[in-house]
Amino acid sequence: MATSSQNAPHSDPLMDGPGSEPYCFQTIIEPFRIKSVERVGMTTPQQRAQLIEHFGYNMFRLPSADVLIDLLTDSGTGAMSASQWAALMRGDESYAGSPSYFRFESAVRELMGFPYVIPTHQGRAAERILFSVTCSDGDIVPNNTHFDTTRANIEYLGAKAVDLPCREAADHESDFPFKGNMDVHALQQLFEQVGPERVPLVMMTVTNNSGGGQPVSLQNLTEVAAVCRTHERPLYLDACRIAENAYLIKMRERGQSDRSARDIVADMCALADGCTMSAKKDGMVNIGGFLATRDAEIARQERDLLILTEGYPTYGGLAGRDLEAIAVGLSEVVEEDYLHYRINSTRYLGEHLTRAAVPILQPPGGHAIYIDAARFAPHLQPLDLPGVSLCVGLYVLGGIRSVEIGTAMFGRRDPKTGEEHPATQELVRLAIPRRVYTQSHIDYVIEAMAELYRRRERLRAFRIVEQAPFLRHFTARFEPVASRMCG
Ligand SMILES: Cc1ncc(COP(=O)(O)O)c(C=O)c1O
Repeated sequence: MATSSQNAPHSDPLMDGPGSEPYCFQTIIEPFRIKSVERVGMTTPQQRAQLIEHFGYNMFRLPSADVLIDLLTDSGTGAMSASQWAALMRGDESYAGSPSYFRFESAVRELMGFPYVIPTHQGRAAERILFSVTCSDGDIVPNNTHFDTTRANIEYLGAKAVDLPCREAADHESDFPFKGNMDVHALQQLFEQVGPERVPLVMMTVTNNSGGGQPVSLQNLTEVAAVCRTHERPLYLDACRIAENAYLIKMRERGQSDRSARDIVADMCALADGCTMSAKKDGMVNIGGFLATRDAEIARQERDLLILTEGYPTYGGLAGRDLEAIAVGLSEVVEEDYLHYRINSTRYLGEHLTRAAVPILQPPGGHAIYIDAARFAPHLQPLDLPGVSLCVGLYVLGGIRSVEIGTAMFGRRDPKTGEEHPATQELVRLAIPRRVYTQSHIDYVIEAMAELYRRRERLRAFRIVEQAPFLRHFTARFEPVASRMCG
């Protein structure tokens, strides 16, 4: 038995006396060990130049086997924990009333507090069902910024998706901590202009993916909820990255630093009437999603529709084992060690790119770093698709797959005149899959991006040669504009 004072925990010479405060490590250590590894495909720049040309210069068309580091999306690309893999074995595949469903339902209720929980195969299925039940032709749905599938699902029903980002969101260089906020005054004005009867619900995307992965503050959410209450309209969260948003609130919002991410998530949900969720993000799984609401009648209508297209309400397009993995994922995602690592490794990438003079959207958000392609390649105009050019350059140089969030994704071609209209911003997103890449992978990305920045004047103009009427960026083909080639 250790009884002497030498063996007491406070007697360690490293920890006692002056200057003995805990050492603050700079290295971001992953709070997990690797139990199983996946080989990554190594290719040369010459091979990659041929491959990308063959696949119409579209990152979505590229086979993942030809990608060295895949930062296309953080959606469904994460690594599951040993506990999640173990939970898969517990999956009960009964058609109706599976215990896996009840474990999933309790996990959502425990974290978010919504009484009615409806599984779907992924986030966009939840969106389609929510909007089909709540929206009609001519309605208006405000959001801080709609994600592309959210906007498309609203527009498909003949309703209008209106983005109301806060004014600070437009300034890519400022370090305003909550650029994901909604412009509360603009929301109030919209209600006054069109009347609450044309606004079936208000959405808040946390974090704001299309607006640069920036968080929403608790204060902003509280103000938006108050406007919704005044006009008796429900507030729904697009909650894909709610844990990351909560941790950014903890880090950046006054009075929140001593609170747990779990408590902050609970507060965010308490302000809302329901949510849509792609569990492929903060559900920490490879497939899955859900809808949740406090409204029994809405839940009944949603379940009716669910049966038509997704499946019976206790599995909703998922296997019982998927529901088990989500239940475990929802508790792992609010662990403080995990969120500390997650948010700080994204920040590390952002800070090192900034040091290399690469223009990024400041401050770094939760799941991704957004490169300002317009400032990266100022010799290219928006209709030259600078973001597509940057993605192609990064792939050819370093084998890294990123995604354009600019004119290819959000611009429009007038169906009558064929005229192209650019998007309001030209970004390239480097999305970081959860628990997949180590710090040396991130260092490689920094090195490749810094080198591309040195060669930026050689980035070429691109144009679209083939496109679908909806969500064109997924399948479009691009080609370099021969007359505009440089270098
Ligand atoms: C903010 C946001 N909402 C909705 C979705 C759609 O989710 P899913 O891809 O699971 O359909 C995504 C996916 O990336 C997203 O980022």
